[in-house]
Amino acid sequence: MPDKVIEHWFPSAEVAERCRKGWGRGDDIAGVGPWFALRPPALCRAIILCTLIDWPTDEATQEQVKAAIRAALSEDRNTGMAEVRKWLPDARILDPFCGRGTIPLEACGLGVQADGSDYAPTAALLAGLIARDTQRRDWPPQPDLPWPSEGLGTGNVLVDAADAMFRWIDRELENRLAPFWPKVDHWGVGPLRPWAALWCRSVPCTACGKRTPMLADLKLRLPHARGDDGRGGKGDKGA
Ligand SMILES: C[S@@+](CC[C@H](N)C(=O)[O-])C[C@H]1O[C@@H](n2cnc3c(N)ncnc32)[C@H](O)[C@@H]1O
Repeated sequence: MPDKVIEHWFPSAEVAERCRKGWGRGDDIAGVGPWFALRPPALCRAIILCTLIDWPTDEATQEQVKAAIRAALSEDRNTGMAEVRKWLPDARILDPFCGRGTIPLEACGLGVQADGSDYAPTAALLAGLIARDTQRRDWPPQPDLPWPSEGLGTGNVLVDAADAMFRWIDRELENRLAPFWPKVDHWGVGPLRPWAALWCRSVPCTACGKRTPMLADLKLRLPHARGDDGRGGKGDKGA
């Protein structure tokens, strides 16, 4: 069985730095409820990575692995995750004394299937709460969205996913309707896509031949609240 990274190297300086403040310190986890030991997420992440990843035999690859692990301990919680996951084996971990569950939680964050148990009901309750809450706020190994996500980046996973989806729907509508809803050059401004169209019969002028639409009114919506001038229809509250 090959050696693991932790038998040769551990990113102590990076872990110490990350445990001082930010995501790596784990204040958000501690804030959910008190339990004995607060295991900083940065420490858990480093331990999981160094315990699971094989120590390469050649020096160049060892340096690549170290760089990937260091990157995964960056100030931004999600930095370097894609790179470091390339080195992780298809593993499953169990923390039988998981307390508030920081180790399984960090493992899941790395895309590693993880389980935890604890005989103290309070610990089990806290671990469950933290696991559910953390999923909502920050879940780095989300599969890539099935639509392009350029132009996003609020940092909130759900907001970004919804934003990306609506942009995609917008683009799809635009593309699929384009043949039926062509853009027109309107009085030299354009090409623009009209937001409404009127179908009607037209008759040619006997003098110049230009066709005249047989419409009483070209207005689509009146800019008056109902009752203002007696013409506004139901629900027509003005522009
Ligand atoms: C130091 S704390 C856990 C720390 C946790 N692994 C972490 O990294 O944050 C030890 C935990 O082991 C639990 N424990 C102790 N004996 C146990 C047992 N026999 N079965 C299950 N859990 C146990 C305690 O309830 C406590 O939550």
